[in-house]
Amino acid sequence: MDRLKEAFYIKSLELKNEMRQVLKEHGSRKMDEVSLQQIFGGMRGVKSMIWETSALDPVEGIRFRGLSIPELKDKLPSREGDTEPLPEGLFWLMLIGELPTEEDVNWLSDDWERRRNVPEHTLRVIDSLPIDTHPMTQFITGISSMQTNGIFTKRYAEGMSKSDYWDPMYEDAMNLIASLPTLAAYIYRRSYFKGEHIAPDDTLDWAGNFAHMLGVSDNPKFMSLMRMYMTIHADHEGGNASAHTTHLVGSTLSDPYFSFAAGMTSLAGPLHGLANQEVIKWIFNMVEELGTNEPTDDQIRKFVHETLGKGQVIPGFGHAVLRRPDPRFIALKRFAEENIENDPTVNIVWKMFEIVPPILQGLGKVKNPWPNVDAHSGSILVHYGLDQYQYYTVLFGVSRALGVLASLCWSRALGMPLERPKSVTYDWIKTQLAK
Ligand SMILES: CC(C)(COP(=O)(O)OP(=O)(O)OC[C@H]1O[C@@H](n2cnc3c(N)ncnc32)[C@H](O)[C@@H]1OP(=O)(O)O)[C@@H](O)C(=O)NCCC(=O)NCCS
Repeated sequence: MDRLKEAFYIKSLELKNEMRQVLKEHGSRKMDEVSLQQIFGGMRGVKSMIWETSALDPVEGIRFRGLSIPELKDKLPSREGDTEPLPEGLFWLMLIGELPTEEDVNWLSDDWERRRNVPEHTLRVIDSLPIDTHPMTQFITGISSMQTNGIFTKRYAEGMSKSDYWDPMYEDAMNLIASLPTLAAYIYRRSYFKGEHIAPDDTLDWAGNFAHMLGVSDNPKFMSLMRMYMTIHADHEGGNASAHTTHLVGSTLSDPYFSFAAGMTSLAGPLHGLANQEVIKWIFNMVEELGTNEPTDDQIRKFVHETLGKGQVIPGFGHAVLRRPDPRFIALKRFAEENIENDPTVNIVWKMFEIVPPILQGLGKVKNPWPNVDAHSGSILVHYGLDQYQYYTVLFGVSRALGVLASLCWSRALGMPLERPKSVTYDWIKTQLAK
């Protein structure tokens, strides 16, 4: 058994036993109440799931196993010559709740390198799609087609004890994570570079190699950006749509390939992960309409009002949980301040940071007028030459795999049951109100 797998097994056994005891003693205790508004309002804030890998505070933002994004930068190992953390380290932290050493992280890079094979038939399936197929459609199709390699489903069919679910779950999760950069880079080069693919570089880490295979920029800062990007998008507790979908589908004992593909169909929605594409599309439309990439504050303000007037949302602003500027936005802003000088798209994003919140606040209904991660990510990608914005959600998806698949391992190791909340009819609501 490998070192990470063994550590995960020991930790999960301990926690499983502890949780069983707590449930036995306190199982009937009330932890939350649900209001009518929450039942109608997309279940906002209803506590109904265990998610160990991260927790989201409305004001502080995301913490991964208790660590904020600046703390991750300080505490996780980084590659020599770079200051951004390696996503391998975050996965290690999320999976077993311990900070990895440099040696641990190097081991994980090598392990994912060994596991990164994408089956030949997956590449053929993708090649059979029209060339202008949205990259997320290609990504989801590719992930589903790799399910043929799934170990969990095979072991289940052979007859596997419930107590063993964690084992093939771990193997599938690791294989899937390892192969995603190869799959995603294949889609990028196929869609935008006539299928001129770039061979992996075995000396690189997981995110560094992804950046290399994308072939966007020779600038080492782009590699650094990818390490940071893959770290900050990895997890946002369990209630967000892509995490919750992966969790729900996994609870039926669908394997990680099916569960993650389902999660990615959630991420592909414009109110969730597709917002990163929508932000740059919105900015490019504005620039084209105005005929300048240096719009004045008044011009931006007018464009924001026009968008709202058409009954549309301003992409990249607002959040279902956060009530302050997203720390992931702040981390990207910090990266841009340190590494990018006077870029027109980045400048527009910074102007929007000033201009949009008071306008949204003025509507009197937006609970969070501040920018989220998607408001900033695209502008930095554009700076390094990755301006094919339809591809952005794939990048988000590769990163999101780290959190949702680590959590899926936990769900099976802890013996989490089939998820089955209760729905009610409007008549039932009226009857309750009449009582
Ligand atoms: C993320 C989002 C879906 C959260 O939705 P939510 O929890 O329902 O947000 P709120 O409770 O603040 O919504 C209340 C109202 O404000 C509106 N609102 C919220 N964010 C808005 C925005 N960025 N632009 C315009 N209106 C917005 C909502 O559409 C809703 O309007 P309605 O009552 O007419 O339906 C929402 O803020 C949004 O659509 N943002 C833009 C898309 C985006 O950036 N998504 C990525 C999120 S990480």
